[in-house]
Amino acid sequence: MEKRETFSSRLGFVLISAGCAIGLGNVWRFPYITGKYGGAAFVLLYLLFLVILGLPVMVMELAVGRASQRSIAQSFQKLEPRGSKWHWYSYIGFAGNYLLMMFYTVIAGWLLYYFIKMLRGDFTGLDADGVAGQFGDLMGRPGIMTAFMAIVVCIGMFVCAQGLRNGVERVNKVMMLCLLALMVVLAVNSVLLEGAGEGLRFYLQPNFRNLVYDENGSWILGETIFAAMGQAFFTLSLGIGAIAIFGSYIKKEHRLAGEAIRIGVLDTCVAFTAGLIIFPACSAFGVSTGEGPALVFVTLPNIFNHMALGQLWGGAFFLFLSFAALSTVIAVFENIISFTMERWELPRKKAVLFNFIAVLALSMPCVLGFNVWSGFTVLGMDVSGVEDFLVSQNILPLGSLLYVLFCTSRKGWGWEKFLEEANTGDGIRFPRAVRFYVSYILPVIVLFIFLMGYWNLFGGK
Ligand code: PHE
Repeated sequence: MEKRETFSSRLGFVLISAGCAIGLGNVWRFPYITGKYGGAAFVLLYLLFLVILGLPVMVMELAVGRASQRSIAQSFQKLEPRGSKWHWYSYIGFAGNYLLMMFYTVIAGWLLYYFIKMLRGDFTGLDADGVAGQFGDLMGRPGIMTAFMAIVVCIGMFVCAQGLRNGVERVNKVMMLCLLALMVVLAVNSVLLEGAGEGLRFYLQPNFRNLVYDENGSWILGETIFAAMGQAFFTLSLGIGAIAIFGSYIKKEHRLAGEAIRIGVLDTCVAFTAGLIIFPACSAFGVSTGEGPALVFVTLPNIFNHMALGQLWGGAFFLFLSFAALSTVIAVFENIISFTMERWELPRKKAVLFNFIAVLALSMPCVLGFNVWSGFTVLGMDVSGVEDFLVSQNILPLGSLLYVLFCTSRKGWGWEKFLEEANTGDGIRFPRAVRFYVSYILPVIVLFIFLMGYWNLFGGK
């Protein structure tokens, strides 16, 4: 096998892992899920889950990746005791990566399309209804959606075909820094908008009743907690080996807890700032916070319509958002491609070609779900909703649970070996004292929320 490349710099590692973590989960999913489940109180719950569930799992995934030097295709096989079956999960994890990309590439395509629309001035002079109308128009045009999805897939696969260091690392660093800078400017601008107050209160002043009942007074607590957990795993990219593959590329000089905290903090800052941009704009322009997946697309153009040189700012912003989504797409493609290369012993170029065709084809149901197949729903979810639900609420939490069990159980890789790997290098230690918590309490929390969420979804209280 070819020798595994490592990252050329520390900043490179943090930005790229953060580039994998930071994506639609922060700028698209976080605002709309927060809007749907009641604002500030939901944000608190989500932050809690990031710390008590997300961070430990991230350390574990990084450790599995770094110790095995493999992608999810072989990482379990390499570390598990002889004869055990942990590696069966690699196929589910692989499917999880695919399922994620089946809607992710489509939404990333919307961002790219909005970048062009912004530059063309399609939104100029429109009021909030007009802006919403533009989004509705896109939903009715599967051809355009397919074209932009295909552009996203082409760019992602092209970067991966070039190999790790010269491809992924270089592209991502620039993308991330530009995005972070522009987001701060836009957040300040939004907070100062006339009418921002109500949106800000919704986002920052917790009303715990919102966690328990929806606007019709139905009990949704189980569903809300389930959603907060799903979002925490989603935003950190946990549970399907996406973070593990980055662990496999890093050197041994830093302890993993420090790296996980750095990635987590950066990721959370971006999500939080996205909320600061979106929610004030909702109240300022009369957009409902419960808009769903359309939320950022029907609020953002309004902001730029009210800014000097808005067309340019807007174009730049959608470009950077597309980059954030693309950096995640690239990271997940890299995971999928390494899996294919290791599992079927293919050269990189062949693996890229095979996956290119598969991702293109498999993204089509999501595109059609917004128009031709819009009649198809399961529990009120359309195609993209079902795909998202399967990944975020099922594969990610259960996969994360598996990583935890693998790292803590004697029948898996085992606590001592995990701890040694996590604490190799310098920096913050993963504390030995949390052993009981991560071995027993954390898995119970995840399972409990999972079961309660399902119970609530199917009409139980
Ligand atoms: N964390 C990514 C985002 O926020 C999504 C993701 C989830 C990527 C799981 C990989 C694995 O956009």
